[in-house]
Amino acid sequence: MSEQKEVKLEDIVSLAKRRGFIYQGSDIYGGLAGTWDYGPHGVALKRNIMNLWWKMFVDGRDDMYGVDAAILMNQKVWQASGHVDTFTDPLVECSNCHGRFRADKLDDPNKCPTCGQTGTFGEAVQFNMMFSTVAGPKWGNVEAKGNEGGYLRGALEAKYPDGTSYDAFTLREDTGFDGAMFYDKTAVTYLRPETAQGIFTNFKNVVDSYYPDVPFGIGQQGKAFRNEISPRDFVFRSREFEQMEIEYFVKEENWEAEFEKWVGLCKEWFAALGLPEDSVHELPVPEEDRAHYSKRTIDFEFDYPIGREELMGLAYRTDFDLKNIERVSGKSMEYRPKDGTDAFVPHVIEPSFGVERAIMAVLCSAYREDEQNGEKRIYLALPYDLAPIKVAVCPLAKNNPELVAKAREIYDMLKKEIGSVLWIDSGNIGKNYRKMDEIGVPYVVTVDFDTLEGDTKDTVTVRHRDTTEQQRSQVTDLTTLLSKV
Ligand code: GAP
Repeated sequence: MSEQKEVKLEDIVSLAKRRGFIYQGSDIYGGLAGTWDYGPHGVALKRNIMNLWWKMFVDGRDDMYGVDAAILMNQKVWQASGHVDTFTDPLVECSNCHGRFRADKLDDPNKCPTCGQTGTFGEAVQFNMMFSTVAGPKWGNVEAKGNEGGYLRGALEAKYPDGTSYDAFTLREDTGFDGAMFYDKTAVTYLRPETAQGIFTNFKNVVDSYYPDVPFGIGQQGKAFRNEISPRDFVFRSREFEQMEIEYFVKEENWEAEFEKWVGLCKEWFAALGLPEDSVHELPVPEEDRAHYSKRTIDFEFDYPIGREELMGLAYRTDFDLKNIERVSGKSMEYRPKDGTDAFVPHVIEPSFGVERAIMAVLCSAYREDEQNGEKRIYLALPYDLAPIKVAVCPLAKNNPELVAKAREIYDMLKKEIGSVLWIDSGNIGKNYRKMDEIGVPYVVTVDFDTLEGDTKDTVTVRHRDTTEQQRSQVTDLTTLLSKV
């Protein structure tokens, strides 16, 4: 019998690596903290999750519009949104080992987790989490003009790439200076820390193109970047991750009713991901912990192996963002109803889904161990829609040309009909099953000698992942049988 055991994070990390789901980013060079690479099955799982979301929240509705905005945006976006000033986490440094930590995530706020010293943290400083960069050749190098007795003194010379020189500044102290850059401040841009602003900045474009009735929403999926002080717990807190966000534009007086509808829709999403109902919890976020733009937030938390932690958030952002855009851009964000009633700036309900946290929740929910023929078996009971591979086709003997040709024929047919179908002819059949179970393949089709002749000609064995039961099926019935859950 299968059982859903207490899943450990190391079980998930190990399976994810072993079976080509997720690898440490830049692993070959020792890794880069907070970055992860998706292998063939990982990218398929991720796409399936993102496609399901798009189908459910964009394509499946009449009141939703999709956008795909640029990651790099005018710096004014982040000034207007408040991120330049307030998108910070509290940072402390240990005066003994100089380790730096996120103050609000320390197990003991007075004890350094690296060197174990107590009372070595100074005052927390606010650390801005945005990755900044410079757009275009608007930078230059700073070189020392004078160097006396190991000390840098006198002026430094700053050079743009075109050779233009500027006297930059004067160093007054021993700095260990080894070269630096200067840049034109107006060319600073950021790797977006949320996809939401690409939606707000396109609000007027979508209204001008489609003139939808309010309420309506705009959805976007894409990368977001945060220079997390302490990335940790596998993909849970990464520096580069993916978001799926909706800004749902409503009349102010309707925000509460619309908010409640989105609570229900988020729950439908968790069910579609196969997350057990009792593993997801609603946490109303108190005012002091809410983001600067929010008047009400619910965090949906999941029981991860690392504890109960945020899976996604649902926020009432008021008219904060559209009003800020009006203030900084000088352009009106008013919506003019078709019935001639007064124009207004819509308020916003924002369901914000993180892809990595969904992947982690899906893997943890699907992870199973049981015993088959006296041997431990690990399998992923993934919902059919999410499984990276739907069917594997396997000839019983790979050195029998007739058998292999028949299996290939069936494989080609299923590949055309179902798409994500895998050819597998290495190892023995038991090993193949175990591999496919760990990838979460719902069905394995085995083509054997009975497929070739006699009463059983043109029949195959279909093995079901979760029960390991096997059934004999006509080849002609396969597409229908294997397209179902
Ligand atoms: N636009 C609102 C917003 O970005 P958020 O709570 O900061 O809100 C939304 O982020 C979701 O993005 C989170 O619930 C989480 O799923 C995901 N997320 C945020 N930071 C993340 C990180 N460092 N690594 C992985 N996912 C993250």
